[in-house]
Amino acid sequence: MTLDLSPESGPRDGGPATPVPTVRLSERLRGGVGFRRDQLGFLQWAARTHGDIVRFRLFGIPMIMLNHPDHIYRVLVEQRANYDKDALLYRLVRPVLRDGLIGTPGGELWQRQRRLMQPSFRPVVVARFARNMTEETTRMLERWEQSYAPGAVVNVHEEFGELALRIVNRSLFSARVGSGAREFAEAFTEANALLGRFFTFPFPPLSVPTPGHLRLRRAIGRMDAFISSVIRRGASGPDPAGITGPADEAEQVNLLTLLMNAVDSEGDGKGMDPEQLHHEVLNLVIGAYETTTNALSWIFYLLATHPEVERKLHEEADAVLGGRTPGFEDMARTPYARSVVEETLRLYSPAWQFMRRSKAEDRIGGHHIPARANIYLNSYVLHRHPELWEEPDTFDPDRFTPERSAGRPRHAYMPFGGGERVCIGQNFALTELHLVLLTVAARHRFRVPAGQPPVRPQPLITLHPEGGVPLEVHPR
Ligand code: HEM
Repeated sequence: MTLDLSPESGPRDGGPATPVPTVRLSERLRGGVGFRRDQLGFLQWAARTHGDIVRFRLFGIPMIMLNHPDHIYRVLVEQRANYDKDALLYRLVRPVLRDGLIGTPGGELWQRQRRLMQPSFRPVVVARFARNMTEETTRMLERWEQSYAPGAVVNVHEEFGELALRIVNRSLFSARVGSGAREFAEAFTEANALLGRFFTFPFPPLSVPTPGHLRLRRAIGRMDAFISSVIRRGASGPDPAGITGPADEAEQVNLLTLLMNAVDSEGDGKGMDPEQLHHEVLNLVIGAYETTTNALSWIFYLLATHPEVERKLHEEADAVLGGRTPGFEDMARTPYARSVVEETLRLYSPAWQFMRRSKAEDRIGGHHIPARANIYLNSYVLHRHPELWEEPDTFDPDRFTPERSAGRPRHAYMPFGGGERVCIGQNFALTELHLVLLTVAARHRFRVPAGQPPVRPQPLITLHPEGGVPLEVHPR
């Protein structure tokens, strides 16, 4: 398939910039695609009927949605200094995320924090957490084998939620967190559910003391108390130099230790103050938990509904692992598993929407972008663009082979965002998804229970499987 890289509906260069095509309320009503009733359907309809750049109102606030790799490149890379994160989505969650990496608008604070934190997420460091991932998964499978009869129906979404939280907690804090970890997990689950509800209708603002907001604040207070106590107790584990030591030191290395010891060698040579460290730890748990939980749930749901893909995956896993637990180095030997992960993140990208705000006016694809516009990026819609993806609704991991990926524009695929604010946990997440997939696939296969309707994506903060993912679990 050849991609037309200039599908602009306005003049691209030169000539006066034209206004961004706008979805009018009358069209919405005629088309019968209300945003409230069917967000995903509405967004796809808007892109299909108005093109790759389209303006509409979300909750009464004007947004410009970009749905072309060139446009996305311009905002996230080429003109990134003109687009910060002082956009609606992040303003809403700032009372929770505070000054942590995820929602901080940009500028010097973000740059310094990213410089300090980036080294802790290099592949060589993430490799040290691989054992956390496979051991926690094996523990989960052993529990399944003891608790469930072959073919029992299990809500794997809940199981993977617990697994993802265990992995991130262990990687951040090691085993030293003790019983407080349970309390933290409960507070987090509550805060997450309250925030999720808030996202379906984001008013009144979090500062207004509604009963739900008060509960959210209390849950955040409990998470804060836990993080403060861990930080107060001081860094556990060895000097960060331990990350280059032998593999059995991996158990003691944790992200908190690395972050506490990080210094800004390109800047003032100092580290993070305790308050900033606190915010970053909270942002990391929030950034890591829901996203990987949902990705894992979608991976195994798609395998259960595509037995031919599952069979190919099992063949690869069996040939490479021969029944043993996978390690970090097995990832390079199992390209099909990697493609299953990538294709799942194409169809059900957990962080399915994000935003920027233009500081000054700009011109994108021949259209005029006003200053202070909310720029809306949506990977659910982009990853189904018919000019970018052949048969976009089909689950086809082979589309990620090097041959078939050749020539695909870089910003056609953005499960982790792009540019300098690309997900800092990308390596961590891809490692976790790949290794959990291999570990589970070596021992179990999944089937959809007879008569169960398809699981639908529910667009909350992340793309959630509505009603969970009940699957029959069969030992292989
Ligand atoms: C499948 C799993 C994940 C997905 C799909 C995902 C997706 C994303 C996306 C799309 C962004 C960029 C948002 C934007 O530009 O506005 C982002 C940022 C971020 N993610 Fe992830 N993420 C995942 C896992 C993780 C993990 C495991 C961590 C931490 C261990 C993490 C921590 C963060 C942080 C801190 C940021 C903000 C980075 C910055 O602005 O400098 N994420 N993530």
